[in-house]
Amino acid sequence: MEATKSPVKKDEEQENEKEEAKAQVEIWNCVFGFVKMAAVKCAIELGIAEAIENNGCPMTLSELSTALNCSPSNLQRVMRFLVHYQIFKEKPTSQNSIAFEQTPLSRRLLKQGNNSMAAFILLESSPVMLAPWHCLSGRVLANGSSAFDSAHGKDVWAYAAADSAHSKLINDAMACNARVAVPALIESCPEVFDGIGRLVDVGGGNGTALKLLVKSFPWMKGINFDLPHVVCDNERCNGVEQVGGDMFQSVPMADAAFFMQVLHDWDDDECIQILKNCRKVIPQDKGKVIIVETIIEAEERDDKFEFVRLMLDMAMMAHTSKGKERSLKEWEYVLRQAGFSRYSVKPIHAVQSVIEAFP
Ligand SMILES: C[S@@+](CC[C@H](N)C(=O)[O-])C[C@H]1O[C@@H](n2cnc3c(N)ncnc32)[C@H](O)[C@@H]1O
Repeated sequence: MEATKSPVKKDEEQENEKEEAKAQVEIWNCVFGFVKMAAVKCAIELGIAEAIENNGCPMTLSELSTALNCSPSNLQRVMRFLVHYQIFKEKPTSQNSIAFEQTPLSRRLLKQGNNSMAAFILLESSPVMLAPWHCLSGRVLANGSSAFDSAHGKDVWAYAAADSAHSKLINDAMACNARVAVPALIESCPEVFDGIGRLVDVGGGNGTALKLLVKSFPWMKGINFDLPHVVCDNERCNGVEQVGGDMFQSVPMADAAFFMQVLHDWDDDECIQILKNCRKVIPQDKGKVIIVETIIEAEERDDKFEFVRLMLDMAMMAHTSKGKERSLKEWEYVLRQAGFSRYSVKPIHAVQSVIEAFP
């Protein structure tokens, strides 16, 4: 006589089957995980989004391949992939043909524009930034060494100082993030900038963030502070002074210091040293530091960026010597050790949150 299975066992078996089926698909997604990035990079290099945008309306394969001087059959394969990935959309034409049209995602592949992330994709998919990923396990091992150093023999900032093309790639990529995060900051919490006469952007890159801030808060003067090889190439802008230096030595005097995506490049002791240098130069009564950074593992938050934040943490592991994304508890530790007595956190519509810390 056949034994009847208990309902619990049957449920368990069904659950296992579902997990097996999911794993069978997911493992292929892992095998070819890099293909999405490669195809998107290819689309940016070919200028597919630009061609459709400049055309003013959707383009057929034949129009697109003529405009881009591409082999129609190869371009069709790339477009099929990018449509499946929902970067571009297909639209039937009146001549019973199919045309490709832009989506909010494909517009982010345009090289210009406030939403453009093209430069960020070109940075992350560059051979220089991909090489350290091959050394990631080396960093995780006990006594392991920095992945970027293992790949290139120096850290990312020394590499950029010696290679102006890579330095430009980094600065252009960071500017993409600034053009998205700073408007979100201005919209969500403009009060953060009330009463600030001079704001120093520490590690301000090419000054994109500060330019947007002084434009929105015209009572404020800005100092864009970064390594000398970065600021010497920066465009001049009214209301923004460019100062070169090393934040580990000192920071220019200001009412408030601003950091965006800088402290995550460094370990706790390094952050404490940088923040102590800021404390020395801001007024002890009403000075502050404004930190625009990722906060991971925030329990009360349920937004779609959490996996992005964890990917950023992996990128910090690959691209910096000791940098990391931090939980609120880890931020609190760094701020307290640097001598800040209180802080507040404000979420914005971005990957990052805003932390204000007071002496
Ligand atoms: C990840 S980028 C962030 C740029 C900018 N804050 C943004 O979000 O667009 C980090 C910046 O820190 C700068 N940096 C690195 N080491 C530095 C140092 N010792 N002193 C000053 N700036 C430094 C880099 O040159 C780079 O521009």
